Amino acid sequence: MADQAARERVDALRTQIGEHRYRYYVLSDPSVTDAQFDALIAELRDLEARYPELDDPSSPSHQVGAPPSGPFAEVAHRQPMLSLDNAFTDDDLRAWFDRVERGLEGAEVRYTCELKVDGVAIEVAYVNGFLERAVTRGDGRVGEDVTPNVRTIANVPSRLALADPPPLLETRGEIHYPLPAFARMNDEREERGEPRFANPRNAASGALRQKDPQITATRPLRLVCHGIGATRGVQVASQSAFLALLRDAELPVAAETRTVATSDEVLAFVHHWAEHRHDPDYEIDGVVVKVDDYGQQRRLGTTSSAPRWAIAFKYPPEEQQTKLLDIVVNVGRTGKVNPFAQFEPVLVAGSTLRLATLHNEDQARAKDVRVGDTIVVRKAGDVIPEVVGPVLALRPPEVEAAGPWRFPTTCPFCGSPIQRLEGESASYCTNIDCPNRLLESLAHFAGRGAMDIEGLGYETARTLLAHGLVANLADLYRLTADQVEGLEGFARRSAELLVDGIDASRKRPVERLLVGLNIRMIGGTVARLVARRLGTMAAIRAADVETIAAIPGVGPIRAASLRQFLDNPRNAQLIDDLAALGVRMDTEDAVRDDTLAGLTIVLTGGLEGFTRDQAKQAVEDRGGKVGASVSKKTSAVVAGTDPGSKADRAAELGVPILDEAGFTRLLATGSLPEPGEG
Ligand code: IVH
Repeated sequence: MADQAARERVDALRTQIGEHRYRYYVLSDPSVTDAQFDALIAELRDLEARYPELDDPSSPSHQVGAPPSGPFAEVAHRQPMLSLDNAFTDDDLRAWFDRVERGLEGAEVRYTCELKVDGVAIEVAYVNGFLERAVTRGDGRVGEDVTPNVRTIANVPSRLALADPPPLLETRGEIHYPLPAFARMNDEREERGEPRFANPRNAASGALRQKDPQITATRPLRLVCHGIGATRGVQVASQSAFLALLRDAELPVAAETRTVATSDEVLAFVHHWAEHRHDPDYEIDGVVVKVDDYGQQRRLGTTSSAPRWAIAFKYPPEEQQTKLLDIVVNVGRTGKVNPFAQFEPVLVAGSTLRLATLHNEDQARAKDVRVGDTIVVRKAGDVIPEVVGPVLALRPPEVEAAGPWRFPTTCPFCGSPIQRLEGESASYCTNIDCPNRLLESLAHFAGRGAMDIEGLGYETARTLLAHGLVANLADLYRLTADQVEGLEGFARRSAELLVDGIDASRKRPVERLLVGLNIRMIGGTVARLVARRLGTMAAIRAADVETIAAIPGVGPIRAASLRQFLDNPRNAQLIDDLAALGVRMDTEDAVRDDTLAGLTIVLTGGLEGFTRDQAKQAVEDRGGKVGASVSKKTSAVVAGTDPGSKADRAAELGVPILDEAGFTRLLATGSLPEPGEG
């Protein structure tokens, strides 16, 4: 049976977690670190596991991950979800104002102006303050029940933050995929050889319609609410009052919403957001204007498909036609061959575009744009120019006859074969000394996150290559000021400075070198993890793929990439040469001991000498693992001030409990006290 203390703690945790979620996802202003937040969730899960009678499907502990559901059930909306009529010009909008004012016989009208979020429409119902169900729009009358998936969405509260919640509150809104995360996700898909999502709306829809909510839970979906559905016990008289109620309930409402008193102010809002449509971190395709007062809305009524009291002002799609001049490929620093479209300069949504990536062979083939085609280009939501496709009706006969563009089989810079690996979308120049690859890789090697060589940027790299002074990365360390003096832009002094800059980079720790070597999927974070754990280049080269993969945060895919790089004899030679030229091959931060190897430590409560992150790091630096909850397999629990339930659990299971001094001893010696000892 749950005791009173556990019950109170569970309640307190649920409230706290709800507040933190709201601060993080709605206000974007978190007051705790991610690790602190995770610790609260872990503690709540722990308590719910111990006292099943305290568990509750609406608990925030269930917001990430729920058991797989079957196919979606069909559910009738309590009130139909209507669509909107559109306006495309100021005149369309003025005509609507006239209709509204006539319909209301000249009464004063206030308008609520909202962004039109380009997402997936959803209706979320709360019964007595608890999330009851979430249903897609479907045909407006019947939608699909996607409740388990919507429960995993971080800014959808499972419980309304209202002291006295109404018996029924339905809100409607849009589920969307935030643009920065969308861009990242597409890049990662491409890395893995998977097709890119065409737009964030599709990605959101795909994520929402997963059969397994665990998968939805891994996607950073968000809700923004904009409307009212069926309600009982909700006393509001206007759209603006309803939105205020949603805010009080800690449901997400767009901050950009404005309620105004004149049609001129509505037009100003429409024009402002036409200019700023890329400011929000979601895609908008227009503005929705609503008569604010519910009484006036009722007087105006609806047609069969759309209300007369609202209108969507649609912005022009940010697409333009232009002429495709050429398709060229570039070779990047990893040797990846990137096809690009070059087209006649065209003004799209305020900027002049000339180039757009075609990503890879499959994407280029799918688009089937040909030199000489009229093509449609657009600025995608993340402001990256994109080729939508050809205008086939305008394709000249000779272009049609020429057939599709063919991905090159040899590198335009060095003539080496281009290779596409099994199961990957990317193609690579097979020559690791390819001059263009070398240029890109020199610039990268010298860059901030890598060897940070003062004075070595693109221009200098180009000059050194053009004069045959460097043919690989090791050659940099053979350069003398005499060789550089007299090249474009170099007098004696600047030549010396460059060579000094290169010399200084010899001292960078090995993780910087790892970054500089242009190994696929090995960026700063992973390089640091590998360097810290293995300490020296020799140890890294000696480690097998399983050892590398086992380093927390690295994993099998990156490990395989690193191993493959090191196994290539030319790369091995390059590393030998760099070492012989005095480039440092170890790191300051190496993990020198494995004191805690094989031990799992659970941390609970506050410590004086460590933040939670530092304590975790200290354990991991010594080869130990930090566990989230206490089980028989836990080696020890470190209980600081206000330790909570984990310490009780440890006592029950006979797991050693350490105070801060005991923890410090453990870090130093790795030896655990006998149970009962401190
Ligand atoms: S009000 C009866 N407000 O746009 C009122 N809709 O093209 C119907 N949408 O079906 C909706 N942002 O899914 C409204 N601020 C907003 C909106 C919005 C996006 C969607 C909604 C609607 C569609 C109509």
